[in-house]
Amino acid sequence: MISPGDRLSPPLPRRRFVEVLLGGGFLATVVAFVYPVLQYLIPPKEADLGSDSVVAGRTGELKPNSGKIFRFGNRPGILIRTSSGEYRAMSAICTHLSCTVQYRDDMQHVWCACHNGHYDLNGKNIAGPPPRPLELFEAQVRGDEIFVRRRRET
Ligand code: FES
Repeated sequence: MISPGDRLSPPLPRRRFVEVLLGGGFLATVVAFVYPVLQYLIPPKEADLGSDSVVAGRTGELKPNSGKIFRFGNRPGILIRTSSGEYRAMSAICTHLSCTVQYRDDMQHVWCACHNGHYDLNGKNIAGPPPRPLELFEAQVRGDEIFVRRRRET
């Protein structure tokens, strides 16, 4: 017969179980905080662009005085058709704090909404906080496609 003072199982395994449970919870909490920080600090691998040239759009796609964002590897680029019908292409990553820029048809230049940065149609920083010009690309029309590639230094 079991009296009230008797124990069915020793207390040590139960205490050990609670310690393991709390230890696992603490470890999971640490990982949940550290993993996103490491993901942020370690830069992603650059996508291989192969020929270093992409099709950014088609000729019928953009009317004069307009622009569009396209993918250049794993980064955004901006393709602009000027009022005179000329194509310009440049990186769409603002040189200030890396926001994506856009083409403003009312101002006829490139604008960054994050901190009111302005760039001309050659990518030159002309107003606001951006410290450097945008990387300028070469845009070339072949058939009905617009190819964009990085400028080669001579
Ligand atoms: S990120 Fe573009 S102006 Fe600040």
